[in-house]
This record gives sequence, structure tokens and C-alpha cells, in this order.
Amino acid sequence: MIVAANFKINHTRESTANYLEALNLFLDAYSTLCDVRVYPVASSFLRADLYSHVKLGAQNFYPIINGAYTGEIGAQQLNEFGIKNVLIGHSERRVALKETQELIAKKYAFAKENGWEIIYCIGESKDVRDGGFESVMEYLWSEFDGIDINYEKLSIAYEPIWAIGTGVSAKVEDIAKVLDTLKSKLNDIPLLYGGSVNTENLFSILSLKSCDGALVGNASLDVANFCKLIQIAQNVQKQ
Ligand code: PGA
Repeated sequence: MIVAANFKINHTRESTANYLEALNLFLDAYSTLCDVRVYPVASSFLRADLYSHVKLGAQNFYPIINGAYTGEIGAQQLNEFGIKNVLIGHSERRVALKETQELIAKKYAFAKENGWEIIYCIGESKDVRDGGFESVMEYLWSEFDGIDINYEKLSIAYEPIWAIGTGVSAKVEDIAKVLDTLKSKLNDIPLLYGGSVNTENLFSILSLKSCDGALVGNASLDVANFCKLIQIAQNVQKQ
């Protein structure tokens, strides 16, 4: 079970350090089988090996070691912190930052070349959702253009755009239908759900047979709340 915290542009360097210390202490005492990942803001990166129970990841990178790409960070900067985990294809980068499928595929290939663990995000807009289940699946499959699904360090996060940050998660039966369909073609790739996950809905979402974890934004920002989410995931795992 993967439980991942996506900070987006939240927390400072200082509050990120406090958060990670508290989380690592919690995980030290509370032994869990969950794979816990945190994706802080790049300016708050800390050495990944400081936190033995948490995998630190990058929300973004440019597919290059270093070079002339103003404002971006590359492999050299991630390597300095021992970061080997990345998010790729998040809808906020696809929509707000206009990342094309072509660039996303390049980032994916670069991450794969570097042997990084990838959470690859896909998700449909409200308009696509309104077109019905078939159009949702057609859209989601199109987000796999140029993506090697045979990469062994890949997990996929299904995050309907209309459920992200809105406080309204997708209905459990709708999540099940999408994840079951993805699972039938993607075999053993771990599948996560994301989009307004919280302490109320996490248990039923993680109990779905095709769901292997959650990618959490808002509800991960408070470390005590994130620890509760990990406990919920652990309870599902034990069943
Ligand atoms: P949210 O964000 O939990 O705040 O909806 C999830 C995400 O964007 O990964």
C-alpha cells in the first residue's frame, strides 16, 4: 500500500523539516508495511537518507542532468539530495503549466533511464466525465501515449481533475470501475487514487480490490492528519 503526500506549493523549508522529523519518528514507533512517500517543494528538499521510513520525492524536474533551462531543476540537483522518486503527469502541470504529452513522455523516459520510482498521474476533466465512462477510459488511455508501462518502478495515480482540491472525491463505485478497468490491462502495476482523499473516505477507497494506495494533497499537509491516513491504510492492509 502506497500513501503519498503531495505538498504542491505548501510548507517552508523549516516546516517541511519539522514535518519529516515528526513523520519519521511516528513511523519508527508505528511499524507499518505501507510505502510512505512525501513530495515537498523543491526549495525544501532535504537529504533523503535522513528519513529512514519515508521516501522523499520530487513533484517536478526537467529531463536533463543540468543545463540552460531557467527556473527548472535537473537530475544533478535531485541526486544531490538522494531523491529517487518523482511525480510525472500531474494534472496541475498538464493543465495550469501546459505540459504536453510529448514533454511528459520525455520526462518519463528520463526518469526511467535514471532508475527513479515514478508515480504517473492520469485523470479526466469534468467535461470528459460528463461524456460517460467510455469517454473517460478513452481519455485516460490517451494519457499513456509514449509511456512504457513495462517499467518495473511504475505506479499509476488516477486523479479525476474535478475531484482534486475540491473537497468532493469521486464516488467509490466510480473509482472502482476505472481502477478495475485499468488493472485489467495494466496487470501488476500498483494503482493509486487521488482527489480529495481524507480520513473519512480513505478506508473505503483503499478497500477497493484494485486500489493499492492514495496520493493526497490537502489532507497530507498536517502531519498528524497524514499519520492518521497511514494508520487507516495500515488497517486496510491487515484485512
Ligand atoms: P487533494 O490533491 O488531495 O488536495 O485533492 C490531490 C493531488 O492533487 O494529488
